[in-house]
Amino acid sequence: MKKISILLIITIGLFACNKPENQQKEIDASAHLEKSVDSVLVLMTLDEKIGQLNLLTSDWDVTGPTMRSDYEDLIRNGQLGNIFNAFTVAYVRKLQKIAVEETRLKIPILFGYDVIHGHKTIFPIPLGESASWDLKAIENAARVSAIEAAASGINWTFAPMVDIARDPRWGRIMEGAGEDTYLGSEIAKARVKGFQGDDLSDPLTVMACAKHFAAYGAAQAGRDYHTVDISEITLRNVYLPPFKAAVQAGVGSFMNSFNELNGIPATANHLLLKKILRQEWGFTGIVVTDYTSINEMVPHGYAVDEKHAGEMAFNAGTEMDLQGSVYHTYMKVLLAENKINIEDIDMAVKNILRKKFELGLFDNPYKYLDEEREKKLIYAPEHLEAARDMARKSMVLLKNEKQLLPLGENIKKVALIGPLAGTKKEVLGAWRAAGDDNKTTSLLEALQQKNNIKVDYVKGCEIVGNDKSGFNNAVKAAKSADVVILALGESADMSGEAASRADISLPGVQTDLLKEIVKTGTPIVLVLMNGRPLVITEESELANAIIEAWFAGTMAGPAIVDVLWGDYTPSGKLTATFPRSIGQIPIFYNMKNTGRPMNEGKYTSKYLDEKNEALYPFGYGLSYTSFEYKNLQLSESQWSDSLIVSVELSNTGNFDGEEVVQLYLHQKVGSITRPVRELKAFKKIMLKKGETQTLKFKLTANDLMFYNAKLEYIAEDGNYEVFVGGNSMADLKADFIFKSASK
Ligand code: NOJ
Repeated sequence: MKKISILLIITIGLFACNKPENQQKEIDASAHLEKSVDSVLVLMTLDEKIGQLNLLTSDWDVTGPTMRSDYEDLIRNGQLGNIFNAFTVAYVRKLQKIAVEETRLKIPILFGYDVIHGHKTIFPIPLGESASWDLKAIENAARVSAIEAAASGINWTFAPMVDIARDPRWGRIMEGAGEDTYLGSEIAKARVKGFQGDDLSDPLTVMACAKHFAAYGAAQAGRDYHTVDISEITLRNVYLPPFKAAVQAGVGSFMNSFNELNGIPATANHLLLKKILRQEWGFTGIVVTDYTSINEMVPHGYAVDEKHAGEMAFNAGTEMDLQGSVYHTYMKVLLAENKINIEDIDMAVKNILRKKFELGLFDNPYKYLDEEREKKLIYAPEHLEAARDMARKSMVLLKNEKQLLPLGENIKKVALIGPLAGTKKEVLGAWRAAGDDNKTTSLLEALQQKNNIKVDYVKGCEIVGNDKSGFNNAVKAAKSADVVILALGESADMSGEAASRADISLPGVQTDLLKEIVKTGTPIVLVLMNGRPLVITEESELANAIIEAWFAGTMAGPAIVDVLWGDYTPSGKLTATFPRSIGQIPIFYNMKNTGRPMNEGKYTSKYLDEKNEALYPFGYGLSYTSFEYKNLQLSESQWSDSLIVSVELSNTGNFDGEEVVQLYLHQKVGSITRPVRELKAFKKIMLKKGETQTLKFKLTANDLMFYNAKLEYIAEDGNYEVFVGGNSMADLKADFIFKSASK
């Protein structure tokens, strides 16, 4: 025995000597960290351990039904180790002080908050940001959000939401990166990096949380919290990759989803939590429930009562109980009854303590709490500028008849009409965090600040309701204007959590208002502000130009004006399909072909009363300039190692502009049927007018891999097509054969 350990020490020593210095430093740091964690754990009573697994809301913000308000006493008793919805340095200090000055072990509190697209300075909703396809800008938006949140005392954000969403009825589609797995994975990494930076202990970073694990976006019929029943193949090929990407980017925590997955609630799902997350992906961070999702296993019909629910959630690997108080109430009894074991409790506590150490809270529990810093950083001018830039980049030009946009010097009089034109509230979206309406610049205000134009503003109607009494004034204003800017859409609370819609057309009488204004003959620029793809088939015929502006955040107004007058040439591309009609949903670009692809014949896969195609497909978006793709070439027609795809892109229009060049693959025959095409790479590039560039993409076997029927992750030999272009319907195509090297 002794010999073995001596040998082991020598081997480890030798091994360690051979390691490059950096690696060795990392190993030492991690050993030191584990020692520190253990040194706290060993002092803890069972009650204190359970306290670390408890996360409760403060009463400062409400993001769900609140259950208890005695949290200050709980902190004092070591029964509450984590708090969310509390912010500002003063308030966080008050709570942290109780933890570090009035409890036995002085373990600092983790402060969480839903900083989804900004803390005070609000960026566009995540679906909007994703339409920029600009990973650097998205990372920066998360960075700025982290800086403001951290300056406000927060050290943990419940973001990014990385759920793939293929159903626009689902209100939470606004909170993610849209329908595509590859793009969603890239954005997941960018957001995690943005929030966490390189070093969690930096007081201007916050720990991120990948949510909602998993397949929440596949809710039946787009109704929030609804059942999810999908194959494990679809789960692994479509819904899980963004979560895995988040793990690879070093995300510190995961949040369960509310839904059941194939009969088992995600909160107690061994396959997700133990097998995939811990064993396959090696995740060592914290797994937290969603809001009372343990308790909800009772109405799910999966647990007899909350105690039973707690047992199943904990044994499946759910470690921290957000707002449910189930662990707080039942964990001791469950342990006494041998339904759960102390080793698992210790492991869960260690995972939490480790993050508190990594955040530097043990070194200095007040490190996030600096009044001066808070004052200086909240709404800092550079943050507002970043929000404006992100907002412009998020906007998608859907239509531009006769080059109505950008508006020029000939426009002297603008009729600004619509229920969203003057709003400072709706533009912040459903996850506005601590965002302040009064700091928002509305479209109306931004237009009024613009020189040399006269603005006639008429609301016309409300977002909802049947009142048309404002129509006359709107028509009057339109008649005497050079152009109408018509701001229509949804209210912020029509998307987000618990905000699914069965009818995703423009609510109220907004379309009727548009029809009345069309009669005046004045050209109309429709500016849409909304949290999801809408069915706007009729409106797309009536308006002369359409800009999808989403809920663009604090700087919505100036950003829209920048785009309208061409101070910024739009470059956004949709990341979720806009259907022609509600009956087409779910509709997404990477569908399967069926055995009877649509054609003129009767017995093919189609609708009798609607086209199969989307109104605006994934990846679609116009620019003020135009782009031409040609000369698609492959370095080989048959390969096993790698392939270079090159294409020539020319800016053929009259403006400098950016284009998102998209590359899609199609495996023509597979061991299971494969999507008609899948995004595998993209580049966003700026071309001056008249400029041509040759772009190159390198493909490797990795880009062909997917989970087959045996759940093996493989690339299959065979024939493939590659498409390159400016949207998911791109028709420039080349063929290749892939043959793996091992055969
Ligand atoms: C419920 C939401 O589903 C989740 O995304 C959020 O983080 C929590 N509430 C906390 O507010």
